Amino acid sequence: MMDQGLARYETTLAGLERKGRRRMLVPQAGADFSSNDYLALAGSARLAKAIASALQRGIPTGAGGSRLLRGNHPEHEALEAEAAVFFGAERVLYFGSGYAANASLFSTLPQRGDLIVYDALVHASAHEGILAGKAQTAAAAHNDVESFAQAIEQWRAKGGTGYPWIAVESLYSMDGDRAPLAELAALAEKHDGFLVIDEAHATGVFGPDGRGFAADLENRENVIVLHTCGKALGVSGALLGASAVLCDYLVNRARGFIYSTAPSPLMAAAVREALRGLVDEPQRRTDFDELRNFANAELTAKLGVAGSGSQILPVLIGDNGQAVRVAARMRAEGFDIRAIRPPTVPEGTARLRIAITLNVDRSTISRMFTRLAAIMTEERP
Ligand SMILES: Cc1ncc(COP(=O)(O)O)c(C=O)c1O
Repeated sequence: MMDQGLARYETTLAGLERKGRRRMLVPQAGADFSSNDYLALAGSARLAKAIASALQRGIPTGAGGSRLLRGNHPEHEALEAEAAVFFGAERVLYFGSGYAANASLFSTLPQRGDLIVYDALVHASAHEGILAGKAQTAAAAHNDVESFAQAIEQWRAKGGTGYPWIAVESLYSMDGDRAPLAELAALAEKHDGFLVIDEAHATGVFGPDGRGFAADLENRENVIVLHTCGKALGVSGALLGASAVLCDYLVNRARGFIYSTAPSPLMAAAVREALRGLVDEPQRRTDFDELRNFANAELTAKLGVAGSGSQILPVLIGDNGQAVRVAARMRAEGFDIRAIRPPTVPEGTARLRIAITLNVDRSTISRMFTRLAAIMTEERP
């Protein structure tokens, strides 16, 4: 009986295999061209010391409960207070992950009768919340302000009376391009709406002191900003900056916040240290800016494609199988590169997502692009 119960899963996996879409867990090995540890903080002595000293101060490993119960540790509150000052938000809430924060905010804040207009390329975690919520939804063409405007106008013309919500990333995770934030903020103002900006890939890297591209918008009461802590900050969790009333509402209504054990207080201590490091170790970001510019120039020189300008450098391949083969050959040569396939990216746009971090140096980047150019030519049908 169980054989048959499991067979349907095997059938699905076999189907994924045929389409070149079956995923495997591949151990990390070789030079890091795929993590989001942009500033090489995850394995840094600075964060290790912060954890060691937190342990010495008696900070517990586990929170022991939900934030609404016994799990609300002073370390969480200290982080939130410091982060609010750092990012210039009225209030900040610390979530266990960016996924949980996005799923919570989109399923909780937009109300029935509201409209969420989301960029076609927003992250799966935003979709999770959007699908679970009660607001109407519309997709806007990627980075096309006019498309956002039209969606709102059409909704109003059909009698929409609630508030519009605009959902974007400041730096897109799979394309490495930037959102037109100033225009989107103006659009939100014009329509008396909210703007939600996911800074996952910009936090720590861009903006004054690494505060992100939305640094000058973060104090507006109609703007909600998400800073994930597992990428450039090298730890885990996410800091959601918003007006005090919206944060208070989330504390009361966001199921992902309420019905979940609070993040480890040790991680909160490490995130505090990472934020301090952004201010007192600016050299890290300067080094990173230089390395990122170097990598963009190398990409163009060796592969003849324009770089995104950011640390996320997509190399479009198109065919799933070919993308997987090229990535596997690069890994075999010591370059940890991963293929990104649908449904993470649109059909027919399988790619290598090359991420530049301070875990690699210039000569490794150079060698990697030389080999990539050769292997891509060999694998071309
Ligand atoms: C744009 C974006 N938002 C949210 C997330 C989720 O963040 P986390 O990894 O902390 O769950 C990610 C990471 O995958 C992301 O790329």
